[in-house]
Amino acid sequence: MSKDYSTYFVKPSLRDARKRKRDDTPTLDFNDYMNIEGIGKNKTYTIETYGCQGNVADSEKIAGILEALEFTRSATLDDADLILLNTCAVRANAENRVFGELGRLKQYKNNNPDLILGVCGCMPQEEHVVNKILAKYHYVDLVFGTHNIHRLPTYLETVLLSKERVIEVFSEEGSIVENMPKLRDNAKKAWVNIMYGCDEFCTYCIVPYTRGKERSRSPEHILAEVDELIAQGYHEITLLGQNVNSYGNDFTDRTYRFKDLLADLHTKPITRVRFTTSHPKDFDTETIAILARGGNLMPYIHLPVQSGNDRVLKRMNRKYTRQEYLELVAEIHRQIPGVSLTTDIIVGFPGETDEQFEDTLSLVERCNFEGAFTFIYSKREGTPAAQYDDDVPIAVKKARLQRLNTLVNAGYKRGNKRFEGHTVKVLVDGTSKNDDTVLAGYSEHNKLVNFTGPADLIGHIVTVKITEAKTWYLWGEYHG
Ligand code: SAH
Ligand code: SF4
Ligand code: F3S
Repeated sequence: MSKDYSTYFVKPSLRDARKRKRDDTPTLDFNDYMNIEGIGKNKTYTIETYGCQGNVADSEKIAGILEALEFTRSATLDDADLILLNTCAVRANAENRVFGELGRLKQYKNNNPDLILGVCGCMPQEEHVVNKILAKYHYVDLVFGTHNIHRLPTYLETVLLSKERVIEVFSEEGSIVENMPKLRDNAKKAWVNIMYGCDEFCTYCIVPYTRGKERSRSPEHILAEVDELIAQGYHEITLLGQNVNSYGNDFTDRTYRFKDLLADLHTKPITRVRFTTSHPKDFDTETIAILARGGNLMPYIHLPVQSGNDRVLKRMNRKYTRQEYLELVAEIHRQIPGVSLTTDIIVGFPGETDEQFEDTLSLVERCNFEGAFTFIYSKREGTPAAQYDDDVPIAVKKARLQRLNTLVNAGYKRGNKRFEGHTVKVLVDGTSKNDDTVLAGYSEHNKLVNFTGPADLIGHIVTVKITEAKTWYLWGEYHG
């Protein structure tokens, strides 16, 4: 598709988004796009973020760009001059929440006609979403997708100065944009993108269409970002990608892969290295061996399985079998004793029978998961599974989800229980959601730990003795 930068009316095309030409990935420099200054002077913004960590990281970039344009963050929606919804398309309920919010925001637009309302992220990458905004949400001023965040300064110039509406969504394989400013939400824990996009095309999933082809950031850029974070006093980084285990497979000029990145990070003075998400099919034993070195490589792995039945896995295009997954889990446990594993599971995939669902339950029992995100299958327009006969009644799907959750919750409890009486290291995030005299943070195994202690521990890694395991968190005493 040709890009016409002069019209600002480019709609998405799922057909174009599906193409993979395997051209070299262009690397762009954000500084070339920072073509106006001070446009946000005396103006405030707010961003509402939906979806995965990738979107959270994008919102930090959007905030960075807005602050570089001299916008300041508004305390409430009422005073905001710019409201951006950074959206997620992965399931229908994520989309419904955004449309509900757009309906609610209409009153703010009525009260303040100068308010700029924008929608970005994964939803605009879908044709039906842009068509719906055009038909029903006339008061939305700005729509852009995941491939053109770096053009935000230009869009704002058009919307603010020429008072024109901007809709520009590219359905392309995507580029890598370096030097985007970032306003990080947390001073101690940082997201680090190591790759963008996805080439897996699991048949239920919209992500390869909304995010473009899989493209890896150069190790030099990643390691430089980590060095900068270390200099700024960060304790923890989480490497982000839809399938981090295939990092580097797109490099044509080097053999550097995910295991090499982990090995390099292992030697860096950053206390905690995490990553998400892993695809089982690309998790090799060499990577497990590097993780087994421990140190700053945290003993926690999120390893989505989706289903425990071979026929369902095949129809999902997951490219591994139940047996291969079980062997991988056994190998991870063998090489990294005490590791905590969590997963993602979809129930009610089109055609899933009772027996096939039972295979998922038995796999969950075998794997010792200490947590899982569980979902009812949601049909996504444009994906292959949308053509499948979705014959499982919703009541059956809900009953399956409930049975699965009972099992998963027992895993959460068991995973917490094993730490009773032990001391763990906790990176203190802040006060507990429900009680501000209680501190809360995460252990190395990614367990939520609550304990009483002085507020000046926030931002530090401290030792806590675990006194009691609840289903969702651990109780402990500050130890030093
Ligand atoms: N790239 C990651 C997952 C990204 S989406 C991975 O492959 O592990 C996060 C989770 O949402 C998926 O693991 C899957 O369990 C769920 N999901 C994705 N598409 C879905 C759909 N159409 N319906 C229900 N759940 C879905
Ligand atoms: Fe979606 Fe599969 Fe890619 Fe994960 S690996 S983002 S589930 S297509
Ligand atoms: Fe959602 Fe897009 Fe992430 S669809 S899960 S925000 S990649």
